[in-house]
Amino acid sequence: MTANAPKLFVKSYGCQMNVYDAERMADALAPEGYVETQSAEDADLIILNTCHIREKAAEKVYSELGRIRKMKQETGRAPKVAVAGCVAQAEGAEILKRAPVVDLVIGPQSYQRLPELLREAAEGRRPVDTDFAVEDKFERLAKPSPKAIASRGVTAFVTVQEGCDKFCTFCVVPYTRGAESSRPAAQLIAETERLVAAGVREVTLLGQNVDAYHGEGPDGRTWSLARLMRALSEIEGLARLRYTTSHPRDMDDELIAAHRELPKLMPYLHLPVQSGSDRILAAMNRKHTADEYLRLIDRIRAARPDLALSGDFIVGFPGETDADFEDTLAIARDAAYASAFTFKYSPRPGTPAADMDGQVPEAVKDERLQRLQALISAQQAAFARSLVGREIDVLLDRPGRYPGQLAGRSPYLQPVQITAPGAVVGEVIRAVVTDTGANSLFAAPAGGARDILPQPAEAIA
Ligand code: 5AD
Ligand code: SF4
Repeated sequence: MTANAPKLFVKSYGCQMNVYDAERMADALAPEGYVETQSAEDADLIILNTCHIREKAAEKVYSELGRIRKMKQETGRAPKVAVAGCVAQAEGAEILKRAPVVDLVIGPQSYQRLPELLREAAEGRRPVDTDFAVEDKFERLAKPSPKAIASRGVTAFVTVQEGCDKFCTFCVVPYTRGAESSRPAAQLIAETERLVAAGVREVTLLGQNVDAYHGEGPDGRTWSLARLMRALSEIEGLARLRYTTSHPRDMDDELIAAHRELPKLMPYLHLPVQSGSDRILAAMNRKHTADEYLRLIDRIRAARPDLALSGDFIVGFPGETDADFEDTLAIARDAAYASAFTFKYSPRPGTPAADMDGQVPEAVKDERLQRLQALISAQQAAFARSLVGREIDVLLDRPGRYPGQLAGRSPYLQPVQITAPGAVVGEVIRAVVTDTGANSLFAAPAGGARDILPQPAEAIA
């Protein structure tokens, strides 16, 4: 690293795919000499990696751009400012008009062109690239060095699938991320092998509709997500696999069987239902009923009885009555969530639901959100308490606050605090849950066998 290497600051909003994309942008700029910084103030390039899923998320970018404009005035510094992600995709050149501070706009399908666009921006042009490229973006993106991988920790994301063909009537994703496309399995196996060789122990496979994955296999056949995970499971040194987010319609028998058959596949599933009312589910174009969802959960739990179920809910979808909302509370109770995300419906321009009759007043949405959140919090706490006294495996992913303390994750994705002198980040440790905190578990080493795999020295931060 040279002393005057240009500094890159990426701020990501929204989903985990943006976290993955932020790393890919940093990787794309590493060959140009860029090093990452944690603060906007000393950056030469600021990238806002934006989210368009709800209005609030989309508006955040403009307030951040306002802060950057002020910071530039106050400090006299002149970093280049790029807007990436789904707001870039959705609003394109509009952003340049609304925010003169912006030098370039780049959609998620064009990140391989980032160095080129930066050169155009350096010449004073203000490029906008929101094309859905035909070329293979992932193949063309620069690969991270083992050191860069290790600096990002022992858990990593791998995007396996992008886009969505489901067209739920509330959702912008099919417009911002485009049609479903799956990366070839060989590429994903190679990427995961590289991560594991640099010290990664857990990989979460990402896709807007990840269970619809249908990539080209090395054998020339189309591989399903289950087939891909069977292959990834064979990578020695990889301890854990996860995937997110799934659509109920694409959870097939093979994927359910994977939960029974693959020990590395963690017993956690994010399977949004959105509503418990069949009328609202139909208006949302979800392509399943409440009962079909519950029966599906039963089948998955039959394969993996300790499965921790997570989900997403939207309250206040147009036309949602008190009775519809009661159905939502009922399905949440019946499905017994270990955690869930709850959202107020936010009309998104260009989506069918934005123009539907029966938009629900904000105060009603607020009240419903509070009631649903209270139920989910109670379920989450009950699930955590049910683990007290039981043994679980904890993947240690960070040093803790005090000497000898480490932080990690349970198989069910809960944060765990553990005092385990001599244990190291990257290790999977068997532990007894001793107590629950507000959002985490406390645990103590259970003794017995420990799984310490040979790690490259640099991987253990
Ligand atoms: N309003 C509120 N929530 C939404 N989501 C998607 N679109 C909207 C919207 N317009 C939620 C869904 C989805 C999650 C990622 O965000 O619950 O599963
Ligand atoms: Fe959006 Fe998910 Fe529905 Fe696709 S399946 S349209 S990403 S909510």
